[in-house]
Amino acid sequence: MVIRPAIILLSLLFVGCTQNVKDNGEFTLLVFKHGKIAGDPELFTQLINRFERENPGIKVKDETLPASTDEQHQFYVINLEGRSADFDVLGLDVIWVPEFAKAGWLRDLSHLLPEDDKGDFFPGPVQAVSYESKIYAVPWYIDAGLLYYRKDLLEKYGFSPPETWQELIEVAQHITSRETRIYGFVWQGKQYEGLVCNVLEYLWGNGGDVLQDGVSVINSYENIYALQFMRDLIAKYKITPPLVTTVIEEQTRHIFGNGRALFMRNWPYAWNIFEREGSPVKGKVGVSILPSFSHKESASTLGGWQLGVNRYSRHSEAAERLIRFLTSQESQKTLAVTTGYKPTRMSLYRDKELIMKQPFMLSLYDVFMKARPRPVSPYYMMISQVIQPEFSAAISGIKTPEDALSSAHKQIEHILVP
Ligand code: GLC
Repeated sequence: MVIRPAIILLSLLFVGCTQNVKDNGEFTLLVFKHGKIAGDPELFTQLINRFERENPGIKVKDETLPASTDEQHQFYVINLEGRSADFDVLGLDVIWVPEFAKAGWLRDLSHLLPEDDKGDFFPGPVQAVSYESKIYAVPWYIDAGLLYYRKDLLEKYGFSPPETWQELIEVAQHITSRETRIYGFVWQGKQYEGLVCNVLEYLWGNGGDVLQDGVSVINSYENIYALQFMRDLIAKYKITPPLVTTVIEEQTRHIFGNGRALFMRNWPYAWNIFEREGSPVKGKVGVSILPSFSHKESASTLGGWQLGVNRYSRHSEAAERLIRFLTSQESQKTLAVTTGYKPTRMSLYRDKELIMKQPFMLSLYDVFMKARPRPVSPYYMMISQVIQPEFSAAISGIKTPEDALSSAHKQIEHILVP
């Protein structure tokens, strides 16, 4: 295993800067770290306030970490390496739990997911929070890559939503040559975890993969074709602007939300924001599964966030209470409507009231069932960190897909050496 000196150095710096949490004698102060909450943060605050009213001895200080999952990961690694007790509840990306559990940074929360309740959660996230037969976090909300489209513009030009990538290219070229102020298709191409999620959808959709039986299979013909196709969206078909190589979810959401793109790949949270009062695209947006390559199946990356308890927390009982509350049926239902975070509890996809408010949730059930997890491994982030620059170089045209994938292959093999 390779230990990076830069991380050790950074950890020393960061640990010194974290703030100390003091408890007031009368109540327990819980610190809850999470990524930026989608939509109106006030609605999330109202949910936290409800928890505090129901639990008079506990106050929650919720603290937002930087937007990208990679920066959040770095924050946790640095602080947990330093045994920080400055936060109690952590929002965990679906890809981190085995790594954090192996490092001993999370409390065992198996008792929060007893067998009868566990069955209500989508299987993908349950697998993601399990490590060596124990559960280390509770699935909070689920994500999968989706295609957003401007239904008004497709209707205007007589098209239905594209089912294949070829159709998407044709429709985008046709419409953008007439509506010249909009981009054809935007997605997340910056060098970060979101790029890996995007690329995997093309690799898997073309029959490729990264690992098979714990061994790298990344430099396959299927993957070379798929990565070249992504580059071609920019350089050959010219439906994707080169700026995608610098953007993450929120920037693409702004572009599309300001009416400046015909198609966008993004997670489900964006829909609620587009439908808000005053949104320039309100009532004009459709959502579907991602297109597929001809005669192949569409593939969508499984994403989502889980809640865990910092092993060094001094308030584990209160922390567990907050997790129970936020992952309950009722809170997940509230979050689906307010922030657009999609429930990890399958029963909510049969909830009539919720479906009335969010009809597209019905079709999401299948998408979430089929969404593919990134490799579930304590070494996933190490693998991701070596493939990110290679994918980025290929879609930016700096390296050929062959060179990028062959270099990624060598580096993954190095990480996986026992
Ligand atoms: C979303 C997903 C998460 C993924 C990230 C990539 O937050 O839920 O799983 O890693 O996007 O940017």
